[in-house]
Amino acid sequence: MSRSAHPAGPRHADVLPEGHYTAPPADLNSLDPKVWSRTVARDDEGAVSVGGIEVARLAEEFGTPAYFLDEDDFRARCRAWRDAFGTEADVFYAGKAFLSRAIVRWLQEEGLNLDVCSAGELTTALAAGMPAERIAYHGNNKSAEEIERAVEAGVGRIVLDSFQEIARVAHTAERLGKRQRVQIRVTVGVEAHTHEFIATAHEDQKFGIALAGGQAAEAVRRALDLDGLELIGIHSHIGSQIFDMAGFEVSARRVVQLLAEVRDEHGVELPEIDLGGGLGIAYTSDDDPREPHEIAKALSEIVTRECESAGLATPRISVEPGRAIVGPTAFTLYRVGTVKPLEGLRTYVSVDGGMSDNIRTALYDAEYTVALVSRRSDAEPMLVRVVGKHCESGDIVVKDAFLPADLAPGDLIAVPATGAYCRSMASNYNHALRPPVVAVKNGEARVIVRRETEEDLLRLDVG
Ligand code: LLP
Repeated sequence: MSRSAHPAGPRHADVLPEGHYTAPPADLNSLDPKVWSRTVARDDEGAVSVGGIEVARLAEEFGTPAYFLDEDDFRARCRAWRDAFGTEADVFYAGKAFLSRAIVRWLQEEGLNLDVCSAGELTTALAAGMPAERIAYHGNNKSAEEIERAVEAGVGRIVLDSFQEIARVAHTAERLGKRQRVQIRVTVGVEAHTHEFIATAHEDQKFGIALAGGQAAEAVRRALDLDGLELIGIHSHIGSQIFDMAGFEVSARRVVQLLAEVRDEHGVELPEIDLGGGLGIAYTSDDDPREPHEIAKALSEIVTRECESAGLATPRISVEPGRAIVGPTAFTLYRVGTVKPLEGLRTYVSVDGGMSDNIRTALYDAEYTVALVSRRSDAEPMLVRVVGKHCESGDIVVKDAFLPADLAPGDLIAVPATGAYCRSMASNYNHALRPPVVAVKNGEARVIVRRETEEDLLRLDVG
């Protein structure tokens, strides 16, 4: 990479990606149900509402920026996943996508289990009354204190991620006079991304224990030998925002091969396999995610087929969707602060949030859409970039989108599909105050995570 200074061209490393749409959508006022939560609608006057409440009213009451979460949609998605997998399988919501006590209560009411990956997530889950046996504990470097708390609380399973952890959890359980149910997370040599999957021979990443080289088999041997552990199965998670089931197919096949090896070597048929999360959602109208019932059918067919050919009874399957449940249920509402046309390029629309409430665009080059939601407009479309108010040119929320050319300061715009990995990855960069999460349902809105205040900032800063 060249580090010498040079005059930047107008589109300095910053042109529209090849193949990116250059034509605006037919109607800028339409809200594609693929990317907006279920109860979002635009009325005849042009105002948008969610859960029966107009966004302008929400902005007035709760301020901007703010995340508005469609409770009915969240619950419906939980039920769709639970019903799709039925009683033969377990659905664990991945709390890292977004977790709060209200979410934990809804999960319980809708019959889902919960994955946590830190002491903070465990505390939140237990504080909201999730029974410990319905919690799975993940992570590649759980501290001694975290292991102790998880074992003591009686979590349903700990997913073991390294040889050291096998010993640590066994030791802790024995010391506490318990036998901890565990799974071993294996790396199957498959890394799946959107629209593609790459089978890799090497395992150059931090999670899990490699199937390659007999390492996972050795981990199983050790776990079976330790009194403090009850090994209930094998766990695999192959990536994020996946649309193609081929990666799961390879992963399931390799996990089932390991189960067959375990049976042959130890005479034990492990009763469960967990295929992780990673199912994709629609961030833009170009994305076509599968429905939970299609995913459930595909996964159970793959596992059943592989087990039949290995002569194994089909194990109980579990899955861990995070994004696919909460992602589509929320949008971020911003107020437009400035509108700056750059001649021949695009118009920069600055909003009152930014990379502190949505780091995904800066971090992953994630794509989002945006709509004017406080009114209807029949003005011409203009190519925009929605940017935040942080001191950084990479502070981009929506890289390329179209908004009506009469957009003006004070208008409300909303970015859909921000339910997952936005509030949970939010930061205080530039001492921004992290926005609230407001649940909306049947004409009622309720704060479930309040907005940070300057007092919160000063409380942490002990002077
Ligand atoms: N299970 C395990 C073991 C995981 O590591 C993850 C996500 C999930 C389940 C849930 O995956 P989901 O269904 O939500 O894709 N910050 C990134 C995503 C990181 C995912 C980490 N692990 C993003 O914003 O795209």
